[in-house]
Amino acid sequence: MSETTTAETVADGAAADEAAADEAAADEAAADGAVTAPADASGLGTAITTAYSDALADVYDDIYPGTPEIAEYLVTLTKPGASVLELGVGTGRVALPLADHGFRVHGVETSEAMLARLAEKDPEGRITPVLGDLVRLDLERTFDVVLAPFNVLCCAMTVDEQIAMMHAIARHTAADGHVVIETFDPSDHHVQRKADVTTRPAGTRGVVIESLEVLPASQNMLLNSTLFLDGAAPKSSSTVMRYLWPSELDLLAAIARLELVARYSGWQEQPFDGGDGRKMCVSVFRPLA
Ligand SMILES: C[S@@+](CC[C@H](N)C(=O)[O-])C[C@H]1O[C@@H](n2cnc3c(N)ncnc32)[C@H](O)[C@@H]1O
Repeated sequence: MSETTTAETVADGAAADEAAADEAAADEAAADGAVTAPADASGLGTAITTAYSDALADVYDDIYPGTPEIAEYLVTLTKPGASVLELGVGTGRVALPLADHGFRVHGVETSEAMLARLAEKDPEGRITPVLGDLVRLDLERTFDVVLAPFNVLCCAMTVDEQIAMMHAIARHTAADGHVVIETFDPSDHHVQRKADVTTRPAGTRGVVIESLEVLPASQNMLLNSTLFLDGAAPKSSSTVMRYLWPSELDLLAAIARLELVARYSGWQEQPFDGGDGRKMCVSVFRPLA
């Protein structure tokens, strides 16, 4: 984790000198090859999602299976050894297979517990971790691919946060690069009127019960996870997400001057027709000239 920078808050004009000094230090660090992240937005959505991720980091890989197919898809999309910025890198479930395929990966994450798990799984430091809020991220460089897998855009609570995320995505994408965003078609959730309860096995450790409630007016989802692990007393943690339709994603992308070039219902480029049972939505964008 030595290359991870801790975000700071620059509140007002009185802190301008301090900010200038930070900027100079950041430039110096960048010249040394270290990673820098800007001041943290620390909005309510970020605080809630960080607390939730901190609570789940230890069990995350037991709940969610690996997805090597994302790396296999990127091999078909971009050049060998391309630079990839993964937004919401979590425990490296997606990033480590990308490194296995020769990609040079930076992973942004707001949860220190998630990054600690990533560090354990990546003793060689193949992934460059960045502790920061992607709502305000500015690494002052671009990448061949900016990847937002597993609904990370929906970790935002408000449309303003999602617009800010799209601007961050656009500013980190090379002029000839690609943006790849995984979301889901929320049509079923939007008409859901009762809590939807799901049970997820957590390997040999126990079980996680998820309860999902929907507020259609704001497109928010309230997700509560209760962990029954290792025979210990159950622990609960909650977060708030904001779902968005594929057409809404295109609108946000257009605001950030990105244009849609392909949309699939899976990482094997299955056609997206809105009727796929898995409701998965993989969207590929390019910067507008
Ligand atoms: C659904 S998880 C996906 C993790 C990983 N990409 C994967 O597929 O396994 C979303 C991750 O994004 C992180 N995240 C959410 N909002 C964020 C933000 N504003 N800035 C940085 N990371 C964020 C969360 O902490 C969480 O680890």
